Formats: sequence, C-alpha cells, structure tokens
Amino acid sequence: MTERYYVTTPIYYVNAAPHLGHAYTTIVADVLARYHRLAGVKTFFLTGTDEHGDKIVKAAEEAGQSPKEYVDMISALFSDLWPKLNISNNDFIRTTDEAHKDVVRMILSRVQEKGDIYFSEYEGLYCFGCERFYMERELVDGKCPDHQEEPTVIKESNYFFRMSNYQDWLIDHINRNPGFIRPERYKNEVLSFLKEPLEDLCISRPKTRLSWGITLPFDEQYVTYVWFDALINYISALGYPDGDLFKANWPVAQHLVAKDILKPHGIYWPCMLKAAGIEPYRHLNVHGYWNINEGKMSKSLGNVVKPLELVDIYGLDAFRYFLMRDMVFGLDSEFSEEALIGRINADLANDLGNLVSRSVSMVYKYFKGEAPKPGEAATADLDLKGNALETIEAYSRYMNELAFHKALISIWDFIGKVNKYIVVTEPWVLAKSDRGRLPTVLWHVMKSLKIISVLLWPVMPETAEKIQGLLGLSRKGEELKLQDIGDWTAGAFEGPVSKAPHLFPRIDAEKKQGPEDQKKKKTPKAQPMISFQDFQKLDLRVGTVKAVEAIPKSKKLIKLTVDIGEERTVVAGIVEHYNEADLVGKQVILVINLEPVKLMGVESRGMVLAAEDESGVHLLVPDSETVPGSKVR
Ligand code: MSP
Repeated sequence: MTERYYVTTPIYYVNAAPHLGHAYTTIVADVLARYHRLAGVKTFFLTGTDEHGDKIVKAAEEAGQSPKEYVDMISALFSDLWPKLNISNNDFIRTTDEAHKDVVRMILSRVQEKGDIYFSEYEGLYCFGCERFYMERELVDGKCPDHQEEPTVIKESNYFFRMSNYQDWLIDHINRNPGFIRPERYKNEVLSFLKEPLEDLCISRPKTRLSWGITLPFDEQYVTYVWFDALINYISALGYPDGDLFKANWPVAQHLVAKDILKPHGIYWPCMLKAAGIEPYRHLNVHGYWNINEGKMSKSLGNVVKPLELVDIYGLDAFRYFLMRDMVFGLDSEFSEEALIGRINADLANDLGNLVSRSVSMVYKYFKGEAPKPGEAATADLDLKGNALETIEAYSRYMNELAFHKALISIWDFIGKVNKYIVVTEPWVLAKSDRGRLPTVLWHVMKSLKIISVLLWPVMPETAEKIQGLLGLSRKGEELKLQDIGDWTAGAFEGPVSKAPHLFPRIDAEKKQGPEDQKKKKTPKAQPMISFQDFQKLDLRVGTVKAVEAIPKSKKLIKLTVDIGEERTVVAGIVEHYNEADLVGKQVILVINLEPVKLMGVESRGMVLAAEDESGVHLLVPDSETVPGSKVR
C-alpha cells in the first residue's frame, strides 16, 4: 500500500439539490478515505461543486435569482449535507473560488503557449444538458443518450484544444497502465472510442451567449468551457503548481466518477494534463448508476431519491451500509426501499445486532462487565482466530479492489462464524458447569467483536464507535489501526463493558409505508411566528387572468396577464399543471407588492398563490366571482 492516498469525487453541478446518486459516490469516496486512514496511510479527500456554465444560468433564471446568489445557495446544500452523512472530506472546492480560477487561466495560457489551442469556426450538434457538442455517431436515435433530447445545431467561432495531438499517447498510456481506467469494461469503452479519430475539443463559449464563466486569459470576449474549467479542480484544490499538497498527493491521485462522465475524465482530462506538462492521474474508478424502476435517477426525469429523507427514517449507518452492500462497483443497481428494509432486518438487526447484544450481555451478566482474562486456547478458539485473520486479509484485498460488497460479505461471514462459535461453546452452560473455561470463550467473542467493529468503521463509523464504546476501548475509530487488530496477544477489550442496547431495531415494512408516516414526511416545517403588522405588509388581491403566453424554452414557467383593476404581467411556475384553456378567465390570488423579478427574460410584477402536494400544484381561487383588484385579508 502506498504512503499516501488522494481520492476525489466529481464536483457536482449546482443546478439542483443533492440526490442519492451524489450521496453514493461521495460515500464511496468517504469509505475509501476512511479505510486508508485506518491502514495508517496519509489521506486527502476532495469534493466540491461545479458552478459555471449554461445549465447553472438557466436554473438561476428559473429560480429568479442571480447566478452568484443561486450557486451560493445550492453549493451550501451540498456542503451542509456531507457532515450529516458523516463524510470526512478534507476540502470542499468551488469553481467560483478565485484560487481555482487563477489555476484555470494558468493552464490555459500554458497550453496556448505550447501551440495546442487554435481559433476556428465550428458548426455542431450541441446538447445543453451535457453542455457539449456531440458527434453524430454518439447520438441514439438522433438524441443525446443522457437527456433524451435532440441536440441543437450551433454555429460559432471558438477556441479549440488540439486533443487529437494526444490520441496516440493516450492509447499507449492506457495500454501500458492496466489500472488507469477501471473496472476493465470502462477501459475498453474508452479504448474503443479512441479507435476513431478524436475531434479537437471546443474550450470556449462566446460571452454573447454565456457570460457566467472564467474569462479566457487570451481573449476577453470568451469564457472557458465548463468541463475545461471543472476538471482542473482536482489540481487547483491542491495548490498547483507549488503547493505542498499538490506535490504530495498528485502522484497518487485517484478519481471516482459514474459512467456518465467517463469521456471527460478518461479522454479530455489526461490529454489536458499531458498538454500542460503534468503527470496523468493514477486511477479513474468508474461506477454504474442507481436506477429506479430500471431507469436512471435524475432530476430531469423527476424520480430523484433524497438522501436525508432515508437517513431520517432508517438511520445513517443503515443507509451507508445498504449503498455499499447492494451495488457491485462498476455495475448498475436498482434502488428500492423494500431492499433497504430487507438488509436492515436481516444483516443489521438480526446478524450484527444480535451478536453484539448477546455477547455484551453475557460479559455483563457473568463478569459484571469486567474484562475476562483468557486461559489456554482450545481448538474452537484457534479456529475462530484463524477465521478472524483470514477475514482481515480478505477484507483488505477486496477494499483495495473496490469490491466493497465482497468486503462486507467477508465481515458478515465472520459474524456468522462468531454466532456459531457461541452456539457451539454454549457460554450459558459453561457459566454453570465450567467457570474456568468461560473467560477464554468470552474473551474470544469480545476479541472478534473488536475486529468486526474496526472492519466496519469505514462504512459504518457511528456503529463501529458505538460497539467500541460498549467494549470500553480507550482508543476508537481511526485510532484503532487495521494493522493492530490481527495481533492476537493484544487485549480484546479494556472494560468495563456497558449493558447492550439494540443497535438496529427491526423495521416493520408495512408500518413504515403507512399513510400516517407518509403524511408526517411530507408536511413542511412551520415557519416562525410573525406579527399582524408583518402580515399586513403583504398586498394580496383578486385578479382575473386575461391572457396566457408560453415562455420559449421554459418547461415550468408561463406568462400571465392578470386584471387587478389594471393589467399586470406575472410569471408563474404552473405549466406542468394547467393549460391555457384552464387559465383564461380564471380568478386567482396575487401578491402585488413583491419586488419585480426577471424570469427567463420576462419581468414578473407579482406572484400567484398556489399550494403544492404530491398530486401537483393547486391555484388558490375565490369561491365566487369577485371584483378584480379586491383586497384579500
Ligand atoms: N459537474 C459534473 C462533474 C464535473 S467533475 C470535474 C457533473 N456533475 S453532476 O452533478 O451531474 O454529477 C454527476 C455524478 O453524480 C456522477 O458521475 C455520479 O458520481 C453521481 N451520480 C449522479 N446520478 C447518479 C446515479 N443515478 N447513480 C449513481 N451515481 C450518480 O457531472
């Protein structure tokens, strides 16, 4: 194992709140970081947010905010979520950080000086969702395979990176370094893509079309293409070029991504690094998708799972365990709450939970919680020791191979063996008939629990530390190194042992999904109390909708002309729920003294009131015809 470890997640787009897919990659990175720290390896773990580009500007417009306000808000959703998922990142980078922008400009200048950037006119097929040009052959039925939308033909003058200069070098590098892109299937995917001539990469966007980005150091009229900007985060966060963090960590860099962003990471990024005279990263680790009903989970498909909702119901460690246990790294997996409940009841409540509670209860009962001293080992004890050492070895091997599900299976096999050891040695019988042997047996059980807790720590840090607390260990968590636990002469525990709690209560699947629970989950939190004077500041009026106009390119917004005694233009996010015919002539309730905002280029001078529940959006309406402009109290 190397002396250092550097792992990164993708930096997530701030056009939407974090979902289960983002949580998965970040938890995998966290598990790897914790595992390496446990093995005594100095570790640096980086995550962050990707904040420039078209997508973000559009989302900000839809939210009626400036790009800066919007990215600050969504980036905070990510940085606030990670501590709640026990993510132990060492840094959180934002591409709007000045230090990052400086490094992007430095790299651009360097590549340009080398002669690898040229200016040219280009006409191509552009997917706004992916923010990149597509080649015909990459489309499926003429559509972007990720967004299922037909790309737009765009013709403009731009700067291009001579990626094609590096095609032969990249093929050679991948072939010489077998683990460069892994698992194998993704390496093959990249190699097969590289069989065709590589097109140069368009790395600029004219400011006339997009101004939210990093200005090119050699042309004020252009901003940097978001991928050329974003990939550089992996070195700018380390203080490239002179930072100590860069010097120490870059030579061992490993990236974690899902297959959606294989191409930028497997092709653009190594070529960019090579052009800038920087060593390539060591590994690109690629995983599959969490699917829902066999389709990819994504904001655009409207089927996202929110991590904190699951954590609130099932607990953080159960959630982390499930994600690591139920996905084979590299392949897709189907997410379902039933599968999660199944894992909790079988693996956590039954196997692990019962082992901890029965073992600790026996020490508590037979030795008043004091640590028993072991005597001479019998065959069963030696077998258990053998199993423990094999488990540690298999677990480490699987973790290094990113086979997390197998690492967990090896722990659970061992849990099964310890449970069996208890059944065979019958400590409850020994307590009556052989007090001499009892301490040896319980010492072995406690030693096994200590080992299990250490192996669990990367995936389930809270549970591991709880078990270590029950064992009365003075060192916990990261302080208990992987190398030490195989030492059979060292103590199992220091005591006194505490009374055992139920670590994982069983979950009643029926009850969990009952209507009461659903209701509790969905009711929004109450706002703080306000005074009557505060309420009176709102100018609420009845209005009659006179005309309705679609807003081009907006999926949600619609322009309404409303009569409130005078005519007002109001933009409302109700397209998915009401059509034009429903709206014209309808009376609505408006807030008319909100500061005007520009949404998708249309100035909105008021807000229509509506309620939202699972079935959709419902406009508030007077229950009989009311004179337009009447006040609402
Ligand atoms: N901003 C770019 C990445 C730039 S990195 C220099 C981006 N952002 S993203 O917000 O779209 O995040 C994509 C990543 O989120 C995936 O590569 C994966 O890590 C994670 N996932 C998003 N949806 C996922 C699933 N349904 N399943 C598993 N992981 C998923 O792309």
